[in-house]
Amino acid sequence: MELEPTAPTVPIARHDAIPAPMRLPRGPVLGWDNFAGSHAPGLPAVDDLAHAVLTTSGRAALYLALCELGPVQGACVLVPTYHCPTMVAPVLLAGCRPLFYALDDSGLPDLERLAQMGGERPVAMIVAHYFGLPRSLADVRQWCDAHGVALIEDCAHCLFGWAGERPVGHWGDYATASLSKFLPVPEAGVLASATRSLSTLVLQPRRLSEQLKGVADVLELGVRHGRLPGLNGPLGSIVRWRRGTLHPVRQSQADVPPADADAMMRGCDMGRANARPLWVSRWMANTLPRERVVLRRRRHYARFAQAFSDRSARQQALAALPPRAAPYVYPLWVDDADRVYRRLRALEAPVFRWDRIWPGTPDDRSDCGPRWSHHILQLLCHQDLDHEDVDRVIDTLRTLLQD
Ligand SMILES: Cc1ncc(COP(=O)(O)O)c(C=O)c1O
Repeated sequence: MELEPTAPTVPIARHDAIPAPMRLPRGPVLGWDNFAGSHAPGLPAVDDLAHAVLTTSGRAALYLALCELGPVQGACVLVPTYHCPTMVAPVLLAGCRPLFYALDDSGLPDLERLAQMGGERPVAMIVAHYFGLPRSLADVRQWCDAHGVALIEDCAHCLFGWAGERPVGHWGDYATASLSKFLPVPEAGVLASATRSLSTLVLQPRRLSEQLKGVADVLELGVRHGRLPGLNGPLGSIVRWRRGTLHPVRQSQADVPPADADAMMRGCDMGRANARPLWVSRWMANTLPRERVVLRRRRHYARFAQAFSDRSARQQALAALPPRAAPYVYPLWVDDADRVYRRLRALEAPVFRWDRIWPGTPDDRSDCGPRWSHHILQLLCHQDLDHEDVDRVIDTLRTLLQD
């Protein structure tokens, strides 16, 4: 008699098994290791400029820069077609109209096309050092001088470094930065200028309840990621209670349907634009050593660069890291970006894509802006990721890119 084949004792691997979410921090996190190392970053920083004021955010700094220009109501402001909504909302809050300009292949304003725009007389131009890879703005500065346009150098991605011949922030009439992208602060930005005094700028004080919440938010994030041994246990249950009751799970931005301008404006939460930053943010901005921030970011970036060194010449040009810079993200061009980004978001990978474009932005494929909005994935390389975390992102991406 033939026996039925016995069932295998080892379970068959499920090829469609869903990998576990990465749950890696999407920005700096306070840990005891943040207090190690030299205070000097080894690079100039935007908050070193002759005139500098801490704000609640980079978007608040952009708004305040426009206000510093004088009465600008109704004027138009040049904004790049490659943007996140928080670069446009401050323009509208200041009562101005955004006029979108095209970018060349290096992410700088396409000055030839600007010459063809004619008609409008913009009061200011916002120019960003994308990804924390600063570039000389010599030509842009010259163009602004020739046309009587104020230059706002947006250093949200680029707190440290040299932009060609000058330190970052020294090209603009005003420079703005986002401290929360570089330090574990709950909120903070910088408005600075190498040439114009900010002494008349008055910001509103904060309530005690906001100050206390700021401290709790910083500790909560540190404990949640296990970065504060000694406090992780005792504070862990409080953190779990706070998360359950105070912070219900938020929908990820990538899963939100495209919004109209009003909804985008609300999403940018410009409510604290005139407020002073929290005490805890100011304390951390003045106290935390910065060398570690620069070194670890460069190291993580080098890992990404090595992993993707076999990709196209365009990729190598896009992601070339200047020697004197502290990157914000590694920009990766992906042809099949919709699929890859969707999978990365499902895995909660520390990756962004600027696909939430302000309504009315021109979609001209000969402009690099719309192409970048679609194809560029921004891979975070902040100092509170470990190299194992970076390797996980690389391995996942390599698999997805081969699918
Ligand atoms: C280039 C650029 N400018 C300005 C901002 C606004 O900075 P914040 O988030 O600190 O308001 C951002 C935020 O992502 C940005 O990427």
